[in-house]
Amino acid sequence: MKEWWKERIAYQIYPRSFQDSNGDGIGDIPGIISRLDEIKNLGAGIIWLSPVYKSPDADNGYDISDYCSIDPRYGTMHDMEKLFAEAAKRDIKIIMDLVINHTSDEHEWFQKSRDPKSPYRDYYIWRSPRQNKGKKILPNNWTGFFLENVWEYDEKSDEYYLHLFDKKQPDLNYKNPKVIEEIKNILRFWLDKGAAGFRCDVINVIYKTSLEDGKKSVAVQGLEHYKCQEGNHAILRELRKDVLDKYDCFTVGETVMVDLDEAKLLCDESRKELNMLFYFEHLEVDRRVAMFVPKKFKATKLLEVLTKWQQGLEWNAVYLENHDQSRIVSHFGDEGKHWQASAKMLAILELTLRGTPFIYQGQEIGMTNFDYKSLAQVNDVMSHNINRLMKKMLIPSFLRWKWIKASSRDNARTPVQWDSGENAGFSRGKPWLGINSNYTRINYASQKNDPFSVLNFYKEMIALRQNNDCLKKGEFIPLYADNRLMLYQRKLENDVYTIALNFSSSKIKLPKKVLVHLAGKAVISSTGRAALDRTLLPWEGVLIS
Ligand code: GLC
Ligand code: CA
Repeated sequence: MKEWWKERIAYQIYPRSFQDSNGDGIGDIPGIISRLDEIKNLGAGIIWLSPVYKSPDADNGYDISDYCSIDPRYGTMHDMEKLFAEAAKRDIKIIMDLVINHTSDEHEWFQKSRDPKSPYRDYYIWRSPRQNKGKKILPNNWTGFFLENVWEYDEKSDEYYLHLFDKKQPDLNYKNPKVIEEIKNILRFWLDKGAAGFRCDVINVIYKTSLEDGKKSVAVQGLEHYKCQEGNHAILRELRKDVLDKYDCFTVGETVMVDLDEAKLLCDESRKELNMLFYFEHLEVDRRVAMFVPKKFKATKLLEVLTKWQQGLEWNAVYLENHDQSRIVSHFGDEGKHWQASAKMLAILELTLRGTPFIYQGQEIGMTNFDYKSLAQVNDVMSHNINRLMKKMLIPSFLRWKWIKASSRDNARTPVQWDSGENAGFSRGKPWLGINSNYTRINYASQKNDPFSVLNFYKEMIALRQNNDCLKKGEFIPLYADNRLMLYQRKLENDVYTIALNFSSSKIKLPKKVLVHLAGKAVISSTGRAALDRTLLPWEGVLIS
C-alpha cells in the first residue's frame, strides 16, 4: 500500500475553538465543514480531528463517555458523515483522536465497573487501600500527569481506582483482553465510517505492568511501571495486525516522556506498531522540569535535539504546536516588533524538516499565546490542578500566576481568529474561551489577500515542499549553531538545500565558516529578501539551493 501519509501535510483541528456555526460559542462540525476550503487552500491533505465524541468535558473531550457517538455540542453523526464526505471531495483524509488510556468516569463501562460484582469491574484498575498503623493509605505512591493523586476512593466498595490524568478519567485495564477487543471494535467503527487513521493519545503509557511504588521523583512518580512496557508494544502490534493493517490508514502516537530508544521500538516499521509519533524534547529545550521552569533558549540545544530525532528515526511526525503547547511565535519566536518575520522563520523550520508536518489551527496565521489577565479566564483543568497544588505548597499567587500563564494549555486553545469582526468571526455568541485581543491585527481575512502575510508564506512553503522530495525525504545534516543562529542541510542525491535561521532580534553577521554554504540563491526568505549579503536580519530564515 502506498504510504500517502508521508506525502501530505496534516492540519490539526481542535473543534471547540475552530468555527462555531450556531452561535452557542462552541466550535462544531458544521463549522469545520464550512472551512474545508481554507484547509484545502493551505495545502493540507490530512486533518487530525481532536475529540468530538460524547464527553462530560472534564478535559475538553479527552474524557470520552461514548466512543461511537458525537457530542451534541459538536453536531450529529450525520454531520460527521458529511464531514468525511466533504473532506473526501477535496482529497482530504481525516484521522480521529483515539483516547484509550482512559475513559470518562461517566462512560457506561465505568458506571457498571463501580459494582464489584459486575463483569465490567475488571475493565478498570481497582485496588484496596494499604494499611499503615491502622490507617488506610493509598494503594501506591504514584503521582499523575495533572500533578494530582492517581487514586480516587470509592466508598461503596472501599476501593480506589487508578487515574493517571484527572479523576474523571479512570484508566482502562489493558491486562484484560476484553478491553482490547472493545478498542478493536471502536477502531473498526471509525475506519468503516471513513477515518484514515488515528492520533493515539498518550499511547505509550496504557499498559501498567505492576502497581508497585515508584522511585522517588519530583516529576511523575511511578512512570517506570507503565511507560513503554512490553505489554504496551504487544497491544499496539495486536491492534495493527487484527484491525489497522486491514485498512488503508496510519497511526501517529502521542508518546509522553519518550526517549529515542523507546521511540525507535514504537515506530520501527518492521515491528508494526505505530507509523510515527509525537515526541516533546524539541519543545522542552528552554524549560527545566518539563513545562514549568523556563531556561534560556539556545539554538545549539534545539539543533542538537532536532538532529538526534531527525537522524534517529526512520520517519518523524514534525510539529511545533498543538492544543497542549504554547503558540510557537510566543515560544521560540517574537510576539512583538518581529512577529511576522519570526512566524515565517518558524514556518521555514517546520516545513524543512524530514517527516510529516502537522500544523495546528491558527499557526498558519501566526496566532500568539492567550493574553489573559487572571486565573478566572483560564479553563484548562491542568492549570487549575497546578494552581491548587502550588497553593498547598504556599507558593505566592503572583508566582503561581506567572507559571500558569506561561504553561496553561489554554494558550493554544483560544478561538481561531478568522476576521476582525465580532468575536473574531469565530461565533455569533459568547465564545467558550476568551479571544485574544490581538484579533483585529492578526486574523485570517486580512492575511488572505496580503501577499506578504504569514498565511501566504505558509502556503508558499507548503507548495514548495510538496513538489520537492528532498525537503520531504532528504537526509538531515546539521551544519552550525550558536545561541541564536542555526544552520542545517537537506540532501537527496544531487539536491541540496541549506537552511539558515536567526532566532534573535539582532542582525547577525554570519561566521566565515558558514558562508560557503550560503553561496546559492535564496529560494525563500522570511523577510522577503531575494539575495543574501553576509548577514541575517532579525528573525530571518532563509532557504538556499
Ligand atoms: C493528551 C492530550 C491532552 C489530554 C491528555 C489526557 O496529552 O493531548 O489534551 O489532556 O492526553 O487525555
Ligand atoms: Ca456551536
